[in-house]
Amino acid sequence: MTGRPRPAIAELPAYRPGRSAAAAEADHGISDAIKLASNEIPFGPLPSVAGAIASGIEHVNLYADHRATALREDIATAMGVDVAQVTVGNGSVGLLQQFALTYCDRGDEVAMCWPSFEAYPVFAMLVEAEQVRVPLRAETFDLDALAAAVTPNTKIVFIANPNNPTGTVVGTDEVEVFLDRVPSTCLVVLDEAYAEFVTDPAVTDTTRLLDVHDNLVITRTFSKAHGLAGLRVGYAIGHPDVIAMVDRTLVPFAVNELGQRAARASLAASDEMRQRVGDVVVERRRVADALGAEGWTVADAQANFVWLPVGDVAADVAVQLERRGVVTRAFPDVGIRVTIGDPVANDRFLAALADCDITPR
Ligand SMILES: Cc1ncc(COP(=O)(O)O)c(C=O)c1O
Repeated sequence: MTGRPRPAIAELPAYRPGRSAAAAEADHGISDAIKLASNEIPFGPLPSVAGAIASGIEHVNLYADHRATALREDIATAMGVDVAQVTVGNGSVGLLQQFALTYCDRGDEVAMCWPSFEAYPVFAMLVEAEQVRVPLRAETFDLDALAAAVTPNTKIVFIANPNNPTGTVVGTDEVEVFLDRVPSTCLVVLDEAYAEFVTDPAVTDTTRLLDVHDNLVITRTFSKAHGLAGLRVGYAIGHPDVIAMVDRTLVPFAVNELGQRAARASLAASDEMRQRVGDVVVERRRVADALGAEGWTVADAQANFVWLPVGDVAADVAVQLERRGVVTRAFPDVGIRVTIGDPVANDRFLAALADCDITPR
């Protein structure tokens, strides 16, 4: 081994991004593969957003505004909070890492339900915190059991709502009860990366909970509904003290000029953004119904993906789908997550699945 990496880093699993269509084509000797593995939306930038990105190109010789002042003001206005309650990061995943770095020491506890977003355990390991994993109940975050698992040593609880990979939600009332139960010394990170896709009326505006719970932080992103995954802009909303503290761990200029401009333009075009989200939601319903008609039991999908809990055949089914040109995300021994794409891509997935050697379950 060259150098002397921290043992915790040497043991850290490398982040596993969704497989590309090109990799699947090379592996299986096929062409025309499609990727439904990373929960991206199938649309290019809105015209006004493309214009904002283009206008930023002539400024790339300069550092961006590290504080992203204008963008934070726009987010604060859009979310109905004070600007001191808002910060931005290098994708919301960058902020999740910052929360771990800011709040956790070796031996502290980080609690979550499982399976959930794969970055949570990685960031716990990064800071040598103990992971406390509570099983999902009916594919959904079990906030009752999660609250019971919180101890005086728990520094952070991660709640993904909707959850990745299952796509299920917990109602805002349940989140409120949870917040009432956990000590204020424990930071509750409510990860709302897919919030814009939610149609379940039990999920309402969570920013109002910030008025009562100083230990709540909400993270959101421009990667999913806004379709700007490649530009890496996420944001967090919380108590000004929490925001000021987490800002200390932001890599200088981590949110670049093009990303800041694109995010502002996308907020200004929120009606168009919502229309696109509506199109994805229609397709989500159609795919879920088609799967149901084939005999699959599909968890209530509230994000831009569906979840097939196929258990121990997950890896095998994912390979079968890949051979048919559809790249999905397998969680070995648990299930397969399939992003909602455009109608043609979704039809390809449905046809490929029907052709696989697996009985709907
Ligand atoms: C639950 C959840 N949170 C956060 C993220 C991070 O997204 P980004 O860093 O692009 O904002 C993802 C990405 O897939 C996710 O699924």
